[in-house]
Amino acid sequence: MIVTVANHKGGVGKTALAAHLVFRAAERGNKVLAVDFDAQGNLTGTLADRGRALKADGAERLFAADGVPVPMSGVEPDIAVLPATAALNATDRGPLSQAFTAIGHLKALHGEFGIIVIDTAPAIGLRLTAALAASQYLVVPLQPESYAVDGVASLLAEAVSISEHMNPNLAPAEFVINAIHPRARQHAATAKRLAQQFKVRTPYLRRAIAVADALAVKRPVWRNPTNSTVANEWAVLCDELLDAFGVVDWR
Ligand SMILES: Nc1ncnc2c1ncn2[C@@H]1O[C@H](COP(=O)(O)OP(=O)(O)OP(=O)(O)O)[C@@H](O)[C@H]1O
Ligand SMILES: [Mg+2]
Repeated sequence: MIVTVANHKGGVGKTALAAHLVFRAAERGNKVLAVDFDAQGNLTGTLADRGRALKADGAERLFAADGVPVPMSGVEPDIAVLPATAALNATDRGPLSQAFTAIGHLKALHGEFGIIVIDTAPAIGLRLTAALAASQYLVVPLQPESYAVDGVASLLAEAVSISEHMNPNLAPAEFVINAIHPRARQHAATAKRLAQQFKVRTPYLRRAIAVADALAVKRPVWRNPTNSTVANEWAVLCDELLDAFGVVDWR
């Protein structure tokens, strides 16, 4: 199963969600590969050692024809990482043929890793094309702001175009509502409107400092429970998605 987490609005929780999906799939006893397509390297910093990542094969190597890159080991035995490097941004300006190279390499890695989670940069370009063309699933985290949907239209158009022309296996986007303020009426109304328009998974994830705190110590929020409500929300949401994606629980 290959899943891409995308939304070209920045700071909506793509990396937080990608990291939690990786942790959860690994907890379920799967070998998981995390691919960091964002040169900021936040997923790399959460799931691997940044110093070692500098010397490892970077995710940009997926776009080069000289062999399948070798993932580095991550923070847990069942987690491997293709880390971000500064060279990633340039891949967006490469020819379409390089996207096909990346798709081939991701499929080859899929033979070794049952689960691949791709975190993307807040941009539309060759990296996103390659990620979506290799994936069966697309997860879009959204914050319940009034303008949240505006930016998503072009991502969905891109996903539809890729499913029509390159990848018939790409399922319609799954939405996750993140950073909701449970007592803000505007947030509740926007979340409800989004749920009428899109396939939105529950529970909605509330804004809580516990999320950033957990990721800062390279752990999922349910293993660093300063807030058990939040911990539970994230665990249930990740299970909801992984179940929908047919990820086996070997525990
Ligand atoms: N529900 C939440 N509550 C509180 N903080 C959160 C929540 N979700 C994410 N964050 C924090 O908000 C910040 C932005 O989240 P994240 O990095 O996951 O967004 P992103 O969409 O990947 O951003 P970018 O587009 O820059 O890659 C991070 O510090 C993250 O830890
Ligand atoms: Mg990110």
